[in-house]
Order: sequence, then C-alpha cells, then structure tokens
Amino acid sequence: MPASTPRTKASIRIDSHLADGDERSLADDARDGLTRPFKELPPKHFYDARGAELFDRITELPEYYPTRAERAILERSARELAKLTSASELVELGSGTAAKTRVLLDSLREAGTLVRYVPVDVTETMVRSCAEELTKEYPGLEVHGVIGDFERHLDRLPEATGPRLVVFLGGTIGNFEPASRERVLADVASLLGPEDHFLLGTDLVKDPAVLEAAYDDAQGVTAEFNRNVLRVLNRELGSDFDPDDFEHIAMFDPKHEWIEMRLRARREHTTVLRELDLSVHFEAGEELRTEISAKFTRERVRADLAGAGLELVRWLTDPDELFALTLSRLANPA
Ligand code: SAH
Ligand code: TRP
Repeated sequence: MPASTPRTKASIRIDSHLADGDERSLADDARDGLTRPFKELPPKHFYDARGAELFDRITELPEYYPTRAERAILERSARELAKLTSASELVELGSGTAAKTRVLLDSLREAGTLVRYVPVDVTETMVRSCAEELTKEYPGLEVHGVIGDFERHLDRLPEATGPRLVVFLGGTIGNFEPASRERVLADVASLLGPEDHFLLGTDLVKDPAVLEAAYDDAQGVTAEFNRNVLRVLNRELGSDFDPDDFEHIAMFDPKHEWIEMRLRARREHTTVLRELDLSVHFEAGEELRTEISAKFTRERVRADLAGAGLELVRWLTDPDELFALTLSRLANPA
C-alpha cells in the first residue's frame, strides 16, 4: 500500500458518556416535569433519529431564518475567524449534522492550522455519521467524537492539542433556562486556555411575528417536531399519548424575551407511563411546556459572557441583524 494512503479508519475516535445514564435522565426528567403544576420537559429529548431528521427539515423552512442567517455570517467571516484564532482544533457543542461547521473547517484548513475536530452531541447516530463523513471529506482530519450531555459531561472532553476554538451554533444556548445557561457558559469557559476562543451563535430580539412564524411554520414541520417528544415518551417509557391530542403552540414572551413552545391538550385525558408506574392527567386546554428559545441583544450576550469570565473579541451579524455570532476569550487568563 502506498505510504500516502489516508488513514481514514485510524483517525476516528468516539467516546460515549451516556451508557445507561441516558434513559435514566429521560425517566427522571419525565417524573419531575410531568408531575409539576405547570408541566414541562427539557428539550434535549426531542432529538431521537426522527427528531434529528425533523430538525434538519426545520433548518430549510422559509420561515426558519436562523440557519440561513448564521450560515451567511460564517461565510463572510470564516477567514477572519481562522486568522484570529489560529485554531488547530475545533470543538463543537450540539454539533448535529455539522452542516454549517464545514464553512469553518474549510477556512481553518486553508489557513493550514486544522488538525482535529471534536463534535459533542447527545445523539449517538449524529456523532458517528458526522465523524464518518468528515474524515472522508477532510483527508487527514482527526475526529474525536464525544457522545454526551453538555450540561453534565463537558469536563470529560479530550485534552486540548493546540489552540482551540469551541463553537456553539444554532442558537442552542437559548434553549436553556437562564440559570442553566450560566452554568453551561461557565463550563465552556473552563475548557479554554489563554490561546483559545469561543464562538457563540445567538438569535436576536426582533418583530414577534417573525419570531413566532419561525417556530410555527405553515407546513407544520415544527409542530411535528414538537409532538415528536410524545413519541419518544411512548417508546422509552411506555406511555400511550396520541400526538394528535395535542396542539402545537409557539409564542413570544416579551418579558423574558424568549419563544415558548408548548403542547396544548385538545381534550381531557390520562396516560400511564408504564416504565415509571406514573399516571399523568391532562385537563382539556392544559399545556406542557417543551422548550424555550431565548432571543438576545448585544448587551445581553456581552453580559452573559462576562458572567462566565469571557470578554468579547468580535460581534458579527448579518445585514438584517437577525442573528449574531460572538467570538470571545478568557478575560483574565491565569
Ligand atoms: N448545531 C446544529 C444543530 C442544532 S440542533 C445547528 O446549528 O444547526 C441542537 C443540537 O444539540 C442537536 O443535535 C441536539 O442533539 C444537541 N443537544 C441538545 N441538547 C443537548 C445536550 N444537553 N447535550 C448535548 N447535545 C445536545
Ligand atoms: N436551537 C433551535 C432554536 O431554538 C432549536 C429549535 C428550532 C427548535 N426550532 C425548534 C426546538 C422547534 C423545538 C421546536 O431555534
């Protein structure tokens, strides 16, 4: 075999931190969230294989502008970002299919600094297929995938091998409650050394009609995505929800500046989560909160980053100021 044959197999490594903790976390979240006076479930349970596929379709909807806006910013700024960071490794939280990430990988490769990509996601299939695809598309690239929950496992990432760029795209940071958001940002900061950078994607506050349409599209794909969490509960915890018993609701809460997604029961009914031996009752019209998606201003992003010990290096937006990417670094490196 010629010496130059790319070592495609040898350059992939995958660590999984979910093992058996995964179902337990769905069970705990369901028991905790479905017995509250105002029922709720955390959003990470949306993303089983079907949920991931539905999310992919959301990113292409005419109403869902964030993906296009973020891609446009990346395309315009990727070179500058490569120059500012000289990153040899790109660590991505909530990497999904890494569709937009390729723009950054391209510019880091062109700059000649790229060595390793570390995708981190709760969805095992996404981490594995993304590693396979990227090692094929980028010969010589090392991919070290981490299957895990970034609320629990950020301390288990591989040691940095050189200047690191941690990216968190898609506005996923907005899906956390303020207190969890603070913790996640602090955990991200703890991954950084003096030479490292953090690139954060945030959706921006704008006309509520534009925001609400992005989370309630005409084709009903987002509604299906929202209801998918009921299918996950049926399959994993033995409930028998009929997704058609629930209406998809998306509304902007101007006080908190976030979109709230809910499922509203169309009729009174009770289901038993057999795996938990838990009976759950819905009144007609009762709502289950499934997600928030916080919208930001420049000042909010700056303050949140400062709270985690990070300082702003660049604030990048698209011409219509729909979305922002913020590059930051440690404010006081040790
Ligand atoms: N970065 C992609 C995907 C965003 S969708 C984009 O910008 O289009 C959010 C991704 O985060 C999904 O792939 C989901 O599986 C992952 N995710 C959500 N909550 C997570 C958590 N707590 N830990 C790890 N991954 C999570
Ligand atoms: N991070 C995405 C966002 O907040 C996730 C998302 C988009 C989403 N559309 C959704 C989550 C619909 C649940 C339902 O924009």
